[in-house]
Amino acid sequence: MPDDRTDSTRRGFIAASGAAALAGSLAQSLPAAEPKGDRKIRIGVVGGGFGASFQWHLDPNCTVEAVSDLRADRRSRLQKVYTCAKPYESLERLVLDPEVDAVAVFTEAPNHARHVLECFKHGKHVISAVPACCSLEEAQQMKEAKEKTGRQYMMAETSYYRAACILARDVWAEGKFGDFLYSEVEYYHPGIGHARDGLSHSGGKRTWRYGYPPMLYPTHSTGFHVGVTKERLTHVSCVGWKSKDPGFADNPYSNPFASQSALFRTSGDNICRCNVFWHGHGHGERAQWMGADLTIFMGSWSGQPFVIKQAGKPDVRKCPDYLDRLPEPMRVRSGHGNSHTFLTHEFIAALVEGRAPAVDLYESLAMTVPGIVAMESARKGGEQLKVPGFDKA
Ligand SMILES: NC(=O)c1ccc[n+]([C@@H]2O[C@H](COP(=O)([O-])OP(=O)(O)OC[C@H]3O[C@@H](n4cnc5c(N)ncnc54)[C@H](O)[C@@H]3O)[C@@H](O)[C@H]2O)c1
Repeated sequence: MPDDRTDSTRRGFIAASGAAALAGSLAQSLPAAEPKGDRKIRIGVVGGGFGASFQWHLDPNCTVEAVSDLRADRRSRLQKVYTCAKPYESLERLVLDPEVDAVAVFTEAPNHARHVLECFKHGKHVISAVPACCSLEEAQQMKEAKEKTGRQYMMAETSYYRAACILARDVWAEGKFGDFLYSEVEYYHPGIGHARDGLSHSGGKRTWRYGYPPMLYPTHSTGFHVGVTKERLTHVSCVGWKSKDPGFADNPYSNPFASQSALFRTSGDNICRCNVFWHGHGHGERAQWMGADLTIFMGSWSGQPFVIKQAGKPDVRKCPDYLDRLPEPMRVRSGHGNSHTFLTHEFIAALVEGRAPAVDLYESLAMTVPGIVAMESARKGGEQLKVPGFDKA
């Protein structure tokens, strides 16, 4: 993953930047990591691949009540990581446990909607891996189920808590970009979906990643625009690059594209250029946000350093790490630019405080659905399509 070039302390940022006005105002917007009493959310963790890389056991307000994976080796892994004595053979069994308050769904992308609906049906709150869903029908079902059950939902979008994205969110909230925003958001993971890709095979069989459409995995990119502005991506024109690799000739998605590039218009009349590439010499997730008055470049694998440019002011070259927004035991380095600890804590804090998490179902669908429609646009040769909304009525 790319180097975010974060500094280890906010003090370091302020001292090094020389742009005290900007840094000072950002610092003021930092909420303190308040203790949240002794209530414990009892979570059930499902999916022992990526799902074993979160910090439930470090959150003072969380305990891992149960774990599950269809695979015995992954169940054992989850038990070991989270020191949990209660394994279940499937999510379907785990959700029957009345001692489980909330479920972390880290199963395969095409199963997320089905598994989240199963959790809602049994009265559980849910945090799910990305994407939220893979079709407009699933988006509608999730919205209806969430509103009927009143359960909380959060999508574990790692881009949302990369330090530069936290900073861009603060800059947006303070109106410092000016009266215009153009974002370039991108996710490059060469190899995914290809016939010889390791992640697209397991035990001699094809996995869900085999031939998977890039724009059905849009949220690492769209999360950088929606997650900063809360704007909606309302119209899209998307083009796809057709691969000759056998993975894109014969897959369950009838998907010929290994890389896709979408141009979105937003609800604020702004512009978002969004790439998701499984082919091309690039790596990682990154964004740049260009306003009329201020532009932020995220650091990247390419060598691009993190920098904030403002007319008439010195460049700001360091980004804080924001670890002081976390409870003390969680201030550890974690995956995808330290985002895992933030995602873990935000979900638990929201449940303890009885509020919606930052990336709730509406924000999650606003990051996911535009990709579903972008895929449709690419199938139609780039025709511009309207993106339906799934916000609360
Ligand atoms: N940066 C990120 O946000 C990021 C990074 C990696 C993966 N992911 C997402 O996380 C999810 C998991 O990724 P992965 O690489 O671990 O996938 P994976 O396919 O390796 O693992 C999925 C696991 O879910 C288990 N599972 C499926 N159905 C189940 C059921 N009914 N009950 C219990 N277990 C069940 C499977 O046995 C499997 O071990 C995917 O959706 C992926 O897109 C996100």
